[in-house]
Amino acid sequence: MLKPTKKIWHNGRFIDWDDAHVHVLSHVINYGSSVFEGIRCYSTPSGPALFRVREHTRRLLDSAKIYRIEVPFALEELAEAMRELIQVNKLEACYVRPIVLRGYGDVGVLPIHNPVEVYMACWEWGKYLGEEALAQGVDVCVSSWTRIAPNTLPALAKAGANYMNSQLVRMEAELNGYAEGIALDNHGYVSEGSGENIFVVRDGKVLTPPLGASVLPGITRDAVIQLAQSLDIPLVETIVPREMLYIADEVFFSGTAAEITPIRSIDKIVVGTGLRGPVTEKLQRAFFDVIDGKALDRFGWLTPVNVQQPVGA
Ligand SMILES: Cc1ncc(COP(=O)(O)O)c(C=O)c1O
Repeated sequence: MLKPTKKIWHNGRFIDWDDAHVHVLSHVINYGSSVFEGIRCYSTPSGPALFRVREHTRRLLDSAKIYRIEVPFALEELAEAMRELIQVNKLEACYVRPIVLRGYGDVGVLPIHNPVEVYMACWEWGKYLGEEALAQGVDVCVSSWTRIAPNTLPALAKAGANYMNSQLVRMEAELNGYAEGIALDNHGYVSEGSGENIFVVRDGKVLTPPLGASVLPGITRDAVIQLAQSLDIPLVETIVPREMLYIADEVFFSGTAAEITPIRSIDKIVVGTGLRGPVTEKLQRAFFDVIDGKALDRFGWLTPVNVQQPVGA
């Protein structure tokens, strides 16, 4: 369960955790008008460090732009506020949740007269699909729900409303005894998990659905692409037919929550040998070596929380 911290950041100042209320008639509550982020802060030998804070904050501002939400803070200000928030709450490894929402004022669908509110909270956080899942993999299903179609809800925006679709996928999987569901896009091709991007390995080559397949442009997805490049593992962004999932040698999820999690079965069909495959393991090791501070941060992914420095420098 969520463990409250002392402070939440609201429109440029810190307020008490218990004071972070919104009115029931706020636009966001009635019409789902929010964009948000989920960012991990890792505990490294040199102190807590935010993972790819610049990229996450940029995606937050991109999501807001798509929805014509004017955020009254610059990227650097938001990133700096996240750093201060973790310091104020004296956390090490944690999760940071910035959210930009349309607040209280008018009551119609047209949102432009409602104030824009920016909140950021953080809390202690462990592994999403479990420690064991990282080594053993998870059992998943293909969802009966289709991922949001192009030109309906924009998939490139990380908007609260998109997660009504994710909730359907996730609940169905849970009720049927699976750890997660994989949604197909409106053409029937593989899109992504309810909260993860997906990668398929066949004959040593890695495939992942392109951004046009209704996927969120995952920051971890991009990290996997960078790692594959640096490890000379061939990787292509391409349409993935559903049945490729069943005949793949390896399949894995990527995401802030899931990090890099192997998938060991899909619709009760065993993936490869049923064990974490060599390509997944190689990428996982390279990923964890950077975020655990064991390897040089050659991609500039980590921003120390306790040392003031320009974001991304
Ligand atoms: C629908 C969806 N896809 C993919 C991801 C993975 O994105 P990221 O690696 O930026 O966390 C997430 C997680 O935020 C998600 O909610």
